[in-house]
Amino acid sequence: MSRGFIDIHLHILPGLDDGCVDVEQSVELARGLVELGYDEVHPTPHQKAGSWAPSGDERESAATALRDALEDAGVALRINAPAGENMWDELFLERQVEASFPKYASEKSFLLELHPAQAPPMLEQRLFEFRLAGRLPVLAHVERYLDLTSDFSRVEGLCERAALLVNLAALGGRGGWRVHRRARKLAQAGLIHAATTDAHSPDDLRDAFAGMRWIEKHLGEAALERLLSHNPRRILAGDIP
Ligand SMILES: [Fe+2]
Repeated sequence: MSRGFIDIHLHILPGLDDGCVDVEQSVELARGLVELGYDEVHPTPHQKAGSWAPSGDERESAATALRDALEDAGVALRINAPAGENMWDELFLERQVEASFPKYASEKSFLLELHPAQAPPMLEQRLFEFRLAGRLPVLAHVERYLDLTSDFSRVEGLCERAALLVNLAALGGRGGWRVHRRARKLAQAGLIHAATTDAHSPDDLRDAFAGMRWIEKHLGEAALERLLSHNPRRILAGDIP
């Protein structure tokens, strides 16, 4: 069943954000991911001013509880050290001073989300500064940033400064027609580095599966391996694929 897939954007840790509500639901999500061919995940609970910002201790203890439950249930999904989905807001800007925002395990890359309607000022320059500091910014669900990604030559520039992720569900046709059409056009233009489930509950896997089918059909089997296995590993290591 394993296809060596690795998910670097999902909300599988129990009780931390608007993702899985308890360990039972997390185990069910993990079981579904294994069925889809995943071996391991890097959880990314929200980090957002005024809503969810679980601390390092809270994230680690949720991960430990889930690992224990998966072992008891015999579900072979590796839960790596939790990262976070950092909204580019005042909390992120505050943490930027000491680079204290949550990062992936290698500390070389970190996940970012933007307000859908408005990109931060001087975005490209800011992203480049992270690269100069030795870190790789990873942009979540770029298909939602309709203004930012309307000009594909601008997206080409972004591709040199950050790793760009797309949600599988959007490729599968979910999330409104503008968003899913943008996701597909970006993927067909080769402007996406990796695809993720962004799963909040087991129900989200149906749409993720639709996205996997779309990739196989329109981009080919090799693209599925590249976007769900090879490239996520490069991103975790801090490289732009
Ligand atoms: Fe997310």
